[in-house]
This record gives sequence, C-alpha cells and structure tokens, in this order.
Amino acid sequence: MVENLFPIFDKMLSRKQKEEQLNQHGVVLWLTGLSGSGKTTIALQFEKRLHELGFLTQVLDGDNIRSGLNSNLGFSVEDRYENIRRIAETAKLFAQCGVITICCFVSPEIEMRENARQIIGSFDFYEVYVSTSLRICEGRDVKGLYHKARAGELKDFTGIDAPFEAPLHPDVLLNTEGCSVDQSVDQLFTSVIDRIKIA
Ligand code: PPS
Ligand code: ADP
Ligand code: MG
Repeated sequence: MVENLFPIFDKMLSRKQKEEQLNQHGVVLWLTGLSGSGKTTIALQFEKRLHELGFLTQVLDGDNIRSGLNSNLGFSVEDRYENIRRIAETAKLFAQCGVITICCFVSPEIEMRENARQIIGSFDFYEVYVSTSLRICEGRDVKGLYHKARAGELKDFTGIDAPFEAPLHPDVLLNTEGCSVDQSVDQLFTSVIDRIKIA
C-alpha cells in the first residue's frame, strides 16, 4: 500500500467550498508586457471594478513581491526564472482559495510564462498580453528607467539590452495604443467575467 505522505490534503476544505462561499471562481490573470506597457495601471483599475461588484481579488506586482518574497532576486535571466516560479506558486495558492489573482510581471520569455502556466495549471492560467510598443513605452518612461538604460546606468533592461518575447497566442490581447485606460479595463473585464462569476 502506498503511504499518504500529505494527510493534511484529505482534511482541508475543498476549493469548491471556498469558491461557493465567495460566489466566484478562482483564476490567475497573468499580465505580461514591457515596462510602461500598462500592466499595473490596468490591474489596479480592473481590481477596483471587481471589488465594487463584490469580488475578492489579489494583485501580485513588483511592488509587493520584489520588496518581500523575492527581495533577494535581481534581473539576470536566472533570477527572472526564479522570480516567476515563486510568483506562480504563490498565485496558485490564491487561485485554489477562490481568489481572482492578477499578476503583473514583465515575464519576458515565452518559456518563463509556460513554466508559470505549468505550475498554475492551464485551466486557471489566463495569459493577458499588454501589447504596447517599445517606442510608446519609452515615450511614457513612467519611472525614468528607459532613460537610465539608454544612458548605460541600468543593465539588462527589457527591450533595451534584454529580450522580450511577445506571446504567440495570448488568451487576451490588450493593445493600449490609441486606447484609454478605461477602454483597456473594459476589454479585460469583458474577456474574463464569464470565467470568474458563478452562473
Ligand atoms: S521579470 O522579468 O518578470 O522578472 O520582472 P518583474 O518582476 O516584472 O520586474 C520588472 C519591474 O522592475 C523594474 N525593473 C526592470 N524591468 C525590466 N528590466 C530591468 N532590468 C529592470 N530593472 C528594474 C521595472 O519597473 C519593472 O516594473 P514595470 O511595472 O514593468 O515597469
Ligand atoms: P507597467 O506596470 O506595465 O510598467 P504602468 O501601468 O506603470 O505600466 O504605466 C503605464 C502608463 O501608461 C501609465 O502612465 C498609464 O496612465 C499610461 N496609459 C496610457 N494608456 C493606457 C492604457 N490604455 N492602459 C494602460 N495604461 C495606459
Ligand atoms: Mg508595473
């Protein structure tokens, strides 16, 4: 007989019980795109909208992940893989609790995002490509990082001297160029609301 090494799993409340209590389905919305593409802006406004409708959400972003859980990681390729691995494991726990989990990470390589999909599970993983050209992102230069990267003060900056591989088949494509923030949030909302709400 095979010994049950993790007997706690048999005693835990089920995901279904938690989702029924929350009246929503857990999911991970994985926003990928260049720095300045609009990931954080869209996520925060989308979360606000869901909150007003009574949904429970969690945003995972550089600000609450790279300052804590992943404070020992930088921007080498290896560190980015580890960053995404830990975030995916964290997001999975939230989704299994029934929480709508919105991840905002550059996650620049296809393989990094595939790793995240594997960890989270295809059914729960929605890849949202916040598609904004380098020219526009650099023009926005929200944090002044492109200026620093061009000046050689910041190495391995995505889009400048580190690669970004656009998703080939994203679940949702948000082209922010020529769109207001409200329009992008509307588009995301329309694309995922049926997956979130319990009929
Ligand atoms: S990754 O590639 O997914 O591990 O990166 P992520 O955790 O999303 O962190 C990206 C944010 O950190 C800032 N930053 C950089 N981005 C890209 N490349 C380099 N070298 C870099 N150094 C700092 C940047 O502000 C990113 O946040 P956003 O919100 O995308 O601007
Ligand atoms: P990221 O988190 O991807 O680095 P930010 O959300 O910090 O990007 O910055 C995006 C910038 O682009 C903000 O100043 C935002 O107001 C602006 N912006 C313009 N149009 C849009 C849009 N349609 N969606 C999201 N952001 C937009
Ligand atoms: Mg951001």
